[in-house]
This record gives sequence, structure tokens and C-alpha cells, in this order.
Amino acid sequence: MSEVPAMTDTPFDLVVIGSGPGGYVAAIRAAQLGMSTAVVEKYAVPGGTCLNVGCIPSKALLDSSEHFHQVRHGLAVHGIKATAELDLATMMKRKDTVVRGLTSGVDSLFRKHKIQRFTGVGRIAAPGRAGYPGRVEVTGEKGIESIETRRILIATGSKPAALPGIAYDGRRIVHSTDALTLPEVPARLIVVGAGAIGLELGSVWLRLGSQVLVLEYMDRIVPGMDQASGAQLKKSLERQGMTFELSASAKTARVENDRVIVTVESGGTTREETADVLLVAVGRRPYTEGLGAAEAGVELDAKGRVVVDEHYETRVPGIFAIGDVIAGPMLAHKAEEEGVAAVETMAGQKPHLAYECIPNVVYTWPELASVGLGVDEAAERGIEVKVGSFPFMANGRARAMNEREGQVTIVADARTDRILGAHILGPRASDLIAELAFAMEMGASAEDVARSVHAHPTLPEAVKEAALAVAGRPIHI
Ligand code: FAD
Ligand code: NAI
Repeated sequence: MSEVPAMTDTPFDLVVIGSGPGGYVAAIRAAQLGMSTAVVEKYAVPGGTCLNVGCIPSKALLDSSEHFHQVRHGLAVHGIKATAELDLATMMKRKDTVVRGLTSGVDSLFRKHKIQRFTGVGRIAAPGRAGYPGRVEVTGEKGIESIETRRILIATGSKPAALPGIAYDGRRIVHSTDALTLPEVPARLIVVGAGAIGLELGSVWLRLGSQVLVLEYMDRIVPGMDQASGAQLKKSLERQGMTFELSASAKTARVENDRVIVTVESGGTTREETADVLLVAVGRRPYTEGLGAAEAGVELDAKGRVVVDEHYETRVPGIFAIGDVIAGPMLAHKAEEEGVAAVETMAGQKPHLAYECIPNVVYTWPELASVGLGVDEAAERGIEVKVGSFPFMANGRARAMNEREGQVTIVADARTDRILGAHILGPRASDLIAELAFAMEMGASAEDVARSVHAHPTLPEAVKEAALAVAGRPIHI
């Protein structure tokens, strides 16, 4: 490894550190805007958490496991007799193929946009040349390379958080990354945390045959989302066989004879539970290790997140940050939009990201999706609202699909009828929420959605009916 860093000759307009959905989208947008752009990624494969160990592999397994579940439990009602046999190795291989296809797609996009990729750990090495925010030093297989740049965008994302007293071993005591690659279906899985990861990966293994117990610290599941829909989702998952213990947590865990002994604390008492695998899914923490951000003068908050202003610029001029490493929901689409907005601001444009219109989805079955305010949040803010709800039970397409659970709920301002929020529990809620997120972006009223023509028979008709229900005139209930 060379001691003297090899220098790039001409400075880049932008060096992005991290190639997750925040970083790679920002780099592409920067190239579209004419900036000479480089991306530094410590792994050989681009795509970050989302493509490699997050959104994509989890959805590939959710889709595969849902097919397995349907063959076992959902086809008889359609008059189809079938038996299912699990080939876990093939299921995992398919997931890996999906991931590979998408990550190599990112590489092709980099080539198409002439974005230079550096592989290695990026560190902001201050000071930069006069007038520059700093250099980025990349430590990788080629030794140390030093990149001169006019601007730096930190997009280093996040890592799984851990619980004190519980050490990951990658096999029996795992976080989400390992839970995506278990070599066999655990007979018993204990999940700590009933958030997005706990419920999604808990669902995968439940459908594939595990007995699943979820421990949740709060008194409800998915605490960040609409309470009523969360309570309904809990009942639905319980019907599928998932068990929950609320106001409970895991205190310690140890492996004995290839099984995990978990100390569960619940209602002021402690007891021991045994499982084949313990999945800890209690959130993620911003990742800035080895980045040299603080040393370069970048401010981090008490949670270790990079502090930025409304233009995503840190207190060091020319150093910006976006995505999971800054405050806000840890979602891929939030990271992407921030990446675009940050880069467009650098180019002198005036983009606006409507944070109140960012949808949030939990990909269980039924799916749970929400955007904007819930009824309780509106009340807390002193906003008087009208609420319209329409059940999938009364939607023709849902009935044809044999999907009867859940509903669409729309929260509108009582005075102006403007849509303030929407909450959907039901089939393909992830797709259905898009119409309402868009309506909110456009400042639409419930009446606007109620008046627009929706194809029949489709699931989106439930959205239209919920909008009609806001005005007290749904047709089909
Ligand atoms: P990341 O995707 O974390 O990317 C950061 C990149 O920076 C990484 O590749 C990392 O290696 C690299 N890096 C870090 N430090 C350095 C350094 N010093 N030098 C070089 N490279 C560095 N979100 C959704 O919206 N929908 C979902 O369905 C969804 N599912 C998920 C499922 C799971 C199991 C998990 C764990 C997460 C899921 N998420 C989902 C969250 C989503 O993955 C993140 O919000 C998103 O990846 C954040 O993007 P990012 O670009 O900020 O960071
Ligand atoms: P999360 O924040 O969504 O949920 C963590 C859950 O664990 C919460 O319900 C919390 O109350 C609980 N918890 C915290 N400490 C606990 C303890 N000691 N004992 C018991 N329960 C405890 O975090 P999660 O599920 O780990 O996901 C991390 C991030 O990844 C989230 O921010 C999420 O947005 C993102 N993600 C998004 C997905 C999606 O959009 N579908 C899917 C998976 C992850």
C-alpha cells in the first residue's frame, strides 16, 4: 500500500461518499446537471444498504415467501389443490440474482453518466486546496488515492443498532443482514422490535414455517404509524400465527448447545425463552465511522447524525449530507429525494422536498402504508378534520382476489377539504398510497380524488370511495 496518496489531476465538481439510494441517485442527478462526479464506495458492489441488504433482498424474500404461503393456504379457496415444498437454497439464489441485476444496473448507470467510481473507505481529509472544502482520501486495494473536489456529499447511510447486553454472532443472534441469509428455517425465531424490519423479516420466516414471537418495547406495534391500522395489522398477523408480547424486551442472550437463551423482561418480571435464532431489529444508527467528518469540522448531533441546514449543507461550506446519516425517516425514497434536492441546490436551482408527503410502507401482508397526518396527530396540532374510510371488503377487485382485510382511510381538513393524510391497510397498500401522496403534493382536496375517474374493477376504487366517504357519500357502503 503506498504511503503517499496518489492525487487526481483535475478536481471533481462533486465527490459523493456512499453509493446507496441517496448517493447513487445524487451522483446521477449531478452528472445530468453537468457536474464532473465521482462516487466513493467501500464495498466493491454499489447500491448501499437498500439494494444489497435492505429493501430489495427483503422484498424478494417477502414475495417468494408469500407465494409459498399462498400455495399452502390461499389456493384452495380458488379451487386449486396444490402442495408446496420449500427449496430455500433456490429461494435465496433468486433473491441474490435480483440483487445482482439491480446493483449491476447501478454500475451501468454510472458508466452511462461518466461517473467515476472509487472503491475503498472514503475519509474527508482537511484541508483541501484553497477554497475547497477538503480532499477525499480513499483507502482501498489500490492503496490510498486522494481526490480533489469542489464539493463533498456525505451519503454514508446507517448500520443496525444493537441492544446493550446482546452481542451479535451472525448465526444465532443476528441483525437484519444475517436474517436475510439464514441457511435453514429456524424452528423458533424470537424478534426484538415490532417495527418495519421485525414485522417484514418475521413474516418471511413465519410463512416459511418458523414459530415467531415478537417482543416490542412499546404498548403497540409499528409505533410510528397510524395506531388503528397498526392494531388491525397485529390481529391479522396473529391470525397468520405470529405471536406478540408488548411492553416487553430482551435483556440478555447467550448461545448454549446451538440454541439461544433469551432473558425476556415483561411487565416487571423476567423469564428465559429459548429460540433457534434471535433477530434484533430495534432501529438503525447513522454511520460515520472512519469518515473524518467531525475532524473536518462537520457537526454531529447527540445521535451521531450529521447536522445540515435546509440546503443539506453542513457547517463546513461545500460539505453536504443526505439520507439515513442525517435526521428524518430512514427510508430509501427519502434519501433519493434529498440527494436530488441537495445536488440541484448546488447547481443553483431551488428544489423543495415536501417531507409531509413522504409515504411510509410496511410490506407485510396485508401491507400497511401511510402518508401525512393521522387523526391523533391532527388533533394534537389543533386541526379539525373530516375522516373517510372504505373497507376492501366492499371493493369488487379485492373480493375477486379474496382479499377482504383492511381499509383506506383519508384524513382531510374540515374547513378546506384538503387531504392531510392517508392510511391504508390492505392488498398492495404500497402501490395505492402513491395516488394519495401525489394528491397531497398537489394540494388536492378529498373532493378532487372523489371526482376523478378510477378504472373498474380495481383496488384504487377503494381510494376514491374513501374520498367520497370524507364527504359522507360513499356509493358502495
Ligand atoms: P445506505 O443505503 O446505507 O448507503 C450508504 C453507503 O455508504 C453504503 O454502501 C456504505 O458501504 C457506504 N459507506 C459508508 N461509509 C463509507 C465510507 N467512509 N467510504 C465509502 N463508503 C462508505 N427503505 C425503504 O424505503 N423501503 C424499504 O422497503 C426498506 N426496506 C429495508 C429493509 C431492510 C432489511 C433494511 C435494513 C432497510 C430497509 N430500508 C427500506 C431502509 C433503506 O435501506 C435506507 O433508508 C436506505 O438504504 C438509506 O440510503 P442511504 O443512501 O442514505 O444509505
Ligand atoms: P424501527 O424503528 O422501524 O422499529 C424498531 C422497533 O423496535 C420499534 O417498534 C421500537 O419501539 C422497538 N424497540 C426499540 N428498542 C426496543 C427494545 N429494547 N426492546 C423491544 N423493542 C424495542 O426500526 P427497524 O425495524 O429496525 O428498521 C430500521 C429502519 O429501517 C427504520 O427506520 C425503517 O424505516 C427502515 N426500514 C424500512 C422499511 C420499509 O420502508 N418497509 C423496511 C425495513 C426497514
